[in-house]
Amino acid sequence: MQFTVAIDGPAAAGKGTISKAVALQFGFAYLDTGSLYRATGVKALEVGRGVIEPAIAARLAGALSQTDLDRDDLRTAMAGQAASKVAALPDVRAALLQFQKTYARREGGAVLDGRDIGTVICPNAEVKIYVTASDEVRAMRRHAELVQTKPKLTVTQVLSDLRARDERDAARDVSPMKPADDALLLDTTDLSIDEAVSNAIKAVQARLK
Ligand code: C5P
Repeated sequence: MQFTVAIDGPAAAGKGTISKAVALQFGFAYLDTGSLYRATGVKALEVGRGVIEPAIAARLAGALSQTDLDRDDLRTAMAGQAASKVAALPDVRAALLQFQKTYARREGGAVLDGRDIGTVICPNAEVKIYVTASDEVRAMRRHAELVQTKPKLTVTQVLSDLRARDERDAARDVSPMKPADDALLLDTTDLSIDEAVSNAIKAVQARLK
């Protein structure tokens, strides 16, 4: 059976948590597509000694290994910013396109989360969900995650980092972040994790019937 759940939305809205729970519930595979851009961004910064060179970033994107994706520095704010810079490069997106499309249509079902899954990677996905939350709530959630390793980080810094990234992601020419016309909008601002997950699971169940 092929069945794709496309989960898009801005940073720290709850996509990852919801995606993993949906994948577990239905026995689907899960791909965090942001990690592809994060791994590419971090490597491009290393190779360019702090400067991202578009042609090199595209080559790196086309040659990512599991080791690159397993690095433990991919969740930092710096990796997030580098990811959103390489993600605006058409050749980087082109290099990552086929891998994601193939993953989405694998046997047994797949959940992919990102920014362009329902619009570009898998426009025919069986279920599309666009997850949002207010900027402030997203910043508080991401801060709680990052402050463990960066105790001096403030919510205000996280908020401005998220806004900068969202603006770049929504304004770019190629595959900008936006809800697909047929996506279910899920605003998690006032929802608990369980409520948000349960809404997503219901949407998938309705389509599987
Ligand atoms: O989801 P995450 O915050 O890990 O994504 C990091 C960055 O990767 C995003 O800010 C965005 O620029 C980029 N991205 C993208 N398309 C995707 C997934 C992530 O452009 N499908």
